[in-house]
Amino acid sequence: MLCYLICAMSDADKIKWDLKFSKKDLTLGVGDSALNDFLSLKPIKPVLDFACGDGRNSLEMARKGIDVLAWDCSRIGLQRLEYFFSLEQLEVRSLMLDFDDLPDLEPEKFGSVWISHFLPSEIQLRWLFDKLPQDGLLALLTFNQLQINFNPRFCLEKDQFVETFDFHHLIKYESRIDKNSHHDFYIWKK
Ligand SMILES: C[S@@+](CC[C@H](N)C(=O)[O-])C[C@H]1O[C@@H](n2cnc3c(N)ncnc32)[C@H](O)[C@@H]1O
Repeated sequence: MLCYLICAMSDADKIKWDLKFSKKDLTLGVGDSALNDFLSLKPIKPVLDFACGDGRNSLEMARKGIDVLAWDCSRIGLQRLEYFFSLEQLEVRSLMLDFDDLPDLEPEKFGSVWISHFLPSEIQLRWLFDKLPQDGLLALLTFNQLQINFNPRFCLEKDQFVETFDFHHLIKYESRIDKNSHHDFYIWKK
């Protein structure tokens, strides 16, 4: 019964996001401005764009010559990402994956992680942190509870992950308003 529920929830994410991406016109949003703060810290490569969607941040990184891994559960999102990369003859290694299945995965090695507009579970964050090399960076940017017209279930609680890892790993933690949207932004260094 529990297994059935977990499978059904995961399928629901995939179906929901495939539908959203299939309704979008064939243009890509611009990357997050916080990505520049992350890149200025010279993250170890390759950078994993975790829950990359259709790749607006992956593409920004690839344009700067950064080797990118792009993981997401949405086949349509990844097809769009591959299309946008092909338009600029840029390379990306994408993987369709449900993050509920992370524990079973022997992943391709990554040096740092970028997460935007996706609220990972603590288990997922710990899995990523565990796989990071020494000095690897892990950045998380997503809506906080001040964001209106957005389901609070998918928004960060105040200080939600401040104590997840040893405090000295947290090298940046701030609330920021980008394009009228309220975000919290974390960067950890392993
Ligand atoms: C709001 S989009 C953000 C996309 C991208 N990071 C960005 O900022 O443009 C959230 C992404 O999370 C992915 N996602 C949601 N649940 C997931 C899961 N269980 N496993 C893998 N990806 C998931 C969706 O497919 C979607 O692409």
